[in-house]
Amino acid sequence: MQWTNDYKIGISVIDAQHKHLFIATNELSEALSKGLTPAVINNLLTQLGFYAVRHFQMEEHYMTESSYPGLPEQLKEHQCFTKRFSEISEDFKQNGLSPGIVHSIQNELGLWLKNHVLGLDQAFGVYYATAQAKKTE
Ligand SMILES: [Fe+2]
Repeated sequence: MQWTNDYKIGISVIDAQHKHLFIATNELSEALSKGLTPAVINNLLTQLGFYAVRHFQMEEHYMTESSYPGLPEQLKEHQCFTKRFSEISEDFKQNGLSPGIVHSIQNELGLWLKNHVLGLDQAFGVYYATAQAKKTE
């Protein structure tokens, strides 16, 4: 999953965090491919979870502050990710690195991230730029 400028939404703090999320997801995926220990995987997975939650909170703060009408939809997607992430983490804690878990981590999480950044987050980036421009008029 290669980060490119196409993923930028135009708010530098958010772009930097998205980039970090891409890197963390890739690291986790590579660790699984290399067959690193469950302890290492657990660590990377936990870090990714914490980071994603902090990132969502920050994004939502920007949205609230700019009275973004698409906030409810964003909240829904963020909650969806958080819920799915918890399910995967829980499954991993219970059953270890089953093929199903490896598949979910390697495919689902990254795909969600890509689609979310290219979809709803891009839309927010456009809105935010317009809102900022109006402010300075
Ligand atoms: Fe988002």
